[in-house]
Amino acid sequence: MSTESREAGLALLKWYAHAGADEAVGTDAAALYAKEADVTPLPVKSPAQKQVSLKPKIAKPPSEEEVAERLQTDAVALAASCATLDELRAAMEDFEAKAHFPAARNLVFADGNPQAKVMFIGEAPGEQEDRRGIPFVGRSGQLLDLMLAAVGLDRTEAYISNILPWRPMSNRTPTMQEGVIFLPFLMRHIELAGPRLTVALGGSAAKLLLGTNQGIMRLRGHWSEIEVAARKVPVLPTLHPAYLLRNPLAKREAWADFLNLKQRLRGLEGE
Ligand code: URA
Repeated sequence: MSTESREAGLALLKWYAHAGADEAVGTDAAALYAKEADVTPLPVKSPAQKQVSLKPKIAKPPSEEEVAERLQTDAVALAASCATLDELRAAMEDFEAKAHFPAARNLVFADGNPQAKVMFIGEAPGEQEDRRGIPFVGRSGQLLDLMLAAVGLDRTEAYISNILPWRPMSNRTPTMQEGVIFLPFLMRHIELAGPRLTVALGGSAAKLLLGTNQGIMRLRGHWSEIEVAARKVPVLPTLHPAYLLRNPLAKREAWADFLNLKQRLRGLEGE
């Protein structure tokens, strides 16, 4: 390199230093900047461009269906986690669906003998059941006791529960949705108690257990089977004692159903 061109080079470097250049990027400088320019920057809005909403952000409440779906999913998991009837009772007590039954004071889980061959399943607790935490202790319960006695049974030989453990407001009939939410608990209840036979007292219990829309007048008196944890469990739908109190003439049909039950229980004797 000639002295002249060396001096010219040094002068150029000084000029760059003076201009603030502190790093040599070689001959690829133009390409380097081109690469940086290729990166698409995230759109950044200046504060002035940002549209600031003055409305407070309120999360949309879940719909009734979404709430029901979540409760159902929780019920399946909770019920499956219970290995004993005591655990099931405790899980039902804690289950958050309780909040949907503001009239309820006590959980109504079951009464009678959990080892009995037959399990009766009613609708939901009424005022007296709610107060005492025991199913079928009001007027319907007194009639149920009479019907049991007529076929030689009492609460030491029968197990009694409901599709809902909480008293619905104003003693209304449980909705199908409520029944479906609590169904995993009921199925686990049947599985853990292990009755040989079940009796659905009234249309709500019969429709829920059998998964049908047919009315109780069609269903009553006919045995069906439900599958509970891979075991087939016979179900006999019959009329609800509360219905019989309002329609005493229908006791004839209920009597026929109870005789039918008695015969089936006789068939299990000695087993
Ligand atoms: N009716 C029901 O279905 N269940 C009860 O426990 C009481 C009344």
